[in-house]
Amino acid sequence: MQSKDPKWWKEAVVYQVYPRSFKDSNGDGIGDLQGIISKLDYIKSLGIDVVWLNPIFKSPNADNGYDISDYKSIMDDFGTMDDFDGLLRGLHERNIKLILDLVVNHSSDEHEWFKRSRSSRDDPYHDYYHWWPAEKGKPPYRWSVFDVNANAWQYDATTDAYYLHYFAVKQPDLKWENPRLRQEVYDMMHYWFKKGIDGFRMDVISVISKDIDYPVISKEILDKEYDGFWPNYYAKGPHLHDYLQEMNREVLSHYNIMTVAEGWGVLQEDVLKFVDAGRKELDMLYHFEGMDIRHFPVTNGTHDPKYDLVAFKEVYTKWDKIFAEKGWGTIYLGNHDQSRMVSRWGNDDPQFRELSSKMLSTFLLTMRGTVYYYAGDELGMTSIKFDRIEDYQDIGTINTYQRIEAEHGDVMAFLEDQKIYSRDNGRAAFQWDGSLHAGFTNGKPWLKVNPDHKIVNAATQESDQGSVLNYFRKLVQLRRQNKTLVYGKYSLLDKDNPKVYAYTREDGEKKLLILLNFSSVNATTDTRMNISNAKILLSNYNNKRLTNTNKTVELRPYEALICEL
Ligand code: GLC
Ligand code: CA
Repeated sequence: MQSKDPKWWKEAVVYQVYPRSFKDSNGDGIGDLQGIISKLDYIKSLGIDVVWLNPIFKSPNADNGYDISDYKSIMDDFGTMDDFDGLLRGLHERNIKLILDLVVNHSSDEHEWFKRSRSSRDDPYHDYYHWWPAEKGKPPYRWSVFDVNANAWQYDATTDAYYLHYFAVKQPDLKWENPRLRQEVYDMMHYWFKKGIDGFRMDVISVISKDIDYPVISKEILDKEYDGFWPNYYAKGPHLHDYLQEMNREVLSHYNIMTVAEGWGVLQEDVLKFVDAGRKELDMLYHFEGMDIRHFPVTNGTHDPKYDLVAFKEVYTKWDKIFAEKGWGTIYLGNHDQSRMVSRWGNDDPQFRELSSKMLSTFLLTMRGTVYYYAGDELGMTSIKFDRIEDYQDIGTINTYQRIEAEHGDVMAFLEDQKIYSRDNGRAAFQWDGSLHAGFTNGKPWLKVNPDHKIVNAATQESDQGSVLNYFRKLVQLRRQNKTLVYGKYSLLDKDNPKVYAYTREDGEKKLLILLNFSSVNATTDTRMNISNAKILLSNYNNKRLTNTNKTVELRPYEALICEL
C-alpha cells in the first residue's frame, strides 16, 4: 500500500550531526561548519542520504543554539554564511540532502523582536511574545522545562508584565496567535529554502499554539508530565493544525522538501493529524514513547536487558501500525537529547559493546519508517556518565540539579540518574581517532571527551572489516538494495519473549526475517514458521549460523540476523 506512494524521504537514512561536537577546524574547542566540511567524504562513505544539522543560527547559546537571536545568520562559533553555502554545496555535490532545525516555538531573549517586545507595551513587537500584565494578578501556573523553579512565567519590570517561557528564561515563547509573527517565520523559511536546503526538523512544533486565556490547569494534569500536561495541554493548542496547514500552504508546498516534527507530547491518536498527507501539514513526526521507557531500578543489578523489552516491542509495534494505511513513521534510538544508544538500549560493557551496537543498528535499519541515525552511534560511542555536576554543560541537568538542591532533595540520586539519562551523554565529541581529544580539536574541548576514544574511534574501525562502522555501512547498503525493508509490511513474532525481538518484513516480492537478541546470554525464539530454507543476508557474528530446530532458533548474546525466507 505504502509502496504505491514512494517518496525520496521515505527511503532516506538521515544522519544527524551535532555541529558543536562533530569537528573543530580552528582550535577553539567548538565544532564548526568548516569542521563538517573537512569530513564530508567520511559522511558520504556511510551511504546516508540526508544530513540533519542541529541549530547553526546566531545564538547566545543558553541552550546550545536552541535559543536563536537571528534566524538568518550563522552562529559566530560555527562560522559564516560563506561557510554554510560551502557546506550545502559540498553536500549536494555528493548527492546528500541537508535539513536544518526550525526553532520557532521560542527565540532567544536577545533576539531583536524580544528586545523590542519587552521595551514597551506599545511597541509593535510587544505582541510577538506572550505577556501577562501584572495588574491581572499572578498568571496561572505553567511548568517550564529548564527554569530553575520550573515556572514558565518570568516577571519583567519594564512593562510590568510576565512573559511565558516553556523552556529556559532566555527562551521566550513566540506568539503564533499573531499573524505578523507567522508571516515573519514563513519569510525566514523561504529564505532558507531559496538557498536550497531540503527540509526542516521542527523543534517542539507540537506546542506552538497556546490557549491565550491561560485557563487554570487542574492539579491532576499538572502533577504528571508525559502523561499529564504535555499531551493534555501543551501539545493540544487550539489552533495548532490551522497554523501547520497555513505553513504548508504558504511555504512547504512550494518546494520538494521533507519535514519532521519533534512530537513532544503527541499521543498516538493525534499523530495522523500531523502527517496524514491528505491534511497537507507535515511529512513525519518522531515520538517519545520509546524514549520514555525507563531502566529498571538497580535493585539486584542483574536485569538483562536493563528495561522491559516486551514493552519496548509493544511501543514500536503500535507506532508501526498507525502508519500502515496513512502517513509515514520514523525510527530512532538516540539524538542530541538522549544518551548514547548502546549505553541506553544495548550494553556498553567492553565485552558486548560492539555486538550490541551492531544489533541495535540492525533494528533501526530494518524497521519501517525513515531512519534517524545519530552521528557517533555508527562507532558504538558510549555515554560519558559524568560523576560530578561540574562536568556537565547541559542547562537541563544543571538547572534541575539546582532545583533539587534548593529543595534539599537527593542530589546524589539525581547524579546517578543522569548517568543514564543526561543529554550530555550524547554530546561529547565525535571520536575520530585515538589521539588527544579524539582528533576532535587541538584546543580545549567545550565538553570533556570520552576517555574510551583510545579504543572507540573512527580511524581504528576504518581499517577493520568487522568493525561497528563497517557493519553500519553494510546495513545501509542492504536497506538501499531491499525496498522491502523500507516499504514492506512489519509483523511482530514471539511478542512475549523477554530477550528476543523477532519480526518479518514482507511485500509481494520478498519476505525477510529479522532476529535480534537484546540480552547478554543465549536466548531462543519461536518463530512459528518454517525457516529451514532461510538464507542469512547479514549477521553481526563472524561465523554466521542459523541453528534451528524446526521453528525455534537459538541466538548468541546480542546476535542479530537478517534472513531471507
Ligand atoms: C527540543 C530540542 C532540545 C531543546 C528544546 C528547546 O527538545 O531537541 O535540544 O533544548 O527543544 O528548544
Ligand atoms: Ca571551532
